[in-house]
Amino acid sequence: MAVYRMNDVSEDMSFLEMLDVLNERLTLQGDDPIAFDSDCREGICGMCGLVINGVAHGPVQTTTCQLHMRSFSDGDVIDVEPWRAEPFPVIKDLIVDRSAFDRIIQAGGYISAPTGTAPDAHANPVPKRDADRAFDAATCISCGACVAACPNGSAMLFTAAKITHLGLLPQGQPERYSRVVGMVAQHDEEGFGGCTNIGECTAVCPKAIPLETISRLNRDLISALSHGGSHWPKAAPRKEEVEEED
Ligand code: SF4
Ligand code: FES
Repeated sequence: MAVYRMNDVSEDMSFLEMLDVLNERLTLQGDDPIAFDSDCREGICGMCGLVINGVAHGPVQTTTCQLHMRSFSDGDVIDVEPWRAEPFPVIKDLIVDRSAFDRIIQAGGYISAPTGTAPDAHANPVPKRDADRAFDAATCISCGACVAACPNGSAMLFTAAKITHLGLLPQGQPERYSRVVGMVAQHDEEGFGGCTNIGECTAVCPKAIPLETISRLNRDLISALSHGGSHWPKAAPRKEEVEEED
């Protein structure tokens, strides 16, 4: 841990703007700026993510980029750490490699049927309740806070959000069971832990993805394995394995 003292921090600054000011100072002094990730700074891309005072995304249930300095008091000591989870190796300072999430998506986070152009709204009737829940699950921004918060280092909330999003819609039905089997296999292959219903994930999720989505994942997985869907797809090779083969 390195200690930096900050003066004149406006309460209207976002947390990342505060880090920008610190980095400007470090650069002018000829020191290395602190490496951290961000992109949209609007709470939609999922790139930012810091453990602040021991809590993923800090004291407010939002993204780090949407956290403001008014959430802290003058004189506070603020501990800032990267996401901590074995499948998210630290690249530098506060930046971690979250490509394990990409490989889970590659293992089934999509449907392969060509969807063509946008259909008429009434072409595929979807019950309102299902449409709302699918939409809520689709708001997952893949930030990884759920993993950082989970004592097991589980990515079940993320995986379940992706399963639920398409699993509730008519277009998701043909591949509903192969998707869940493939994604859970990849989740485990990446080294994420299992879910034991602790609930830390949903407490820090900036999109408030509910634990109910994990129940849905478990129900789909049990159905997949008990209806002859026991062809457990081999998980995609990890990056290191591909490099070793090359
Ligand atoms: S479920 Fe929530 S915390 Fe986890 S990746 Fe998605 S948005 Fe982030
Ligand atoms: S920078 Fe895009 S969600 Fe924070």
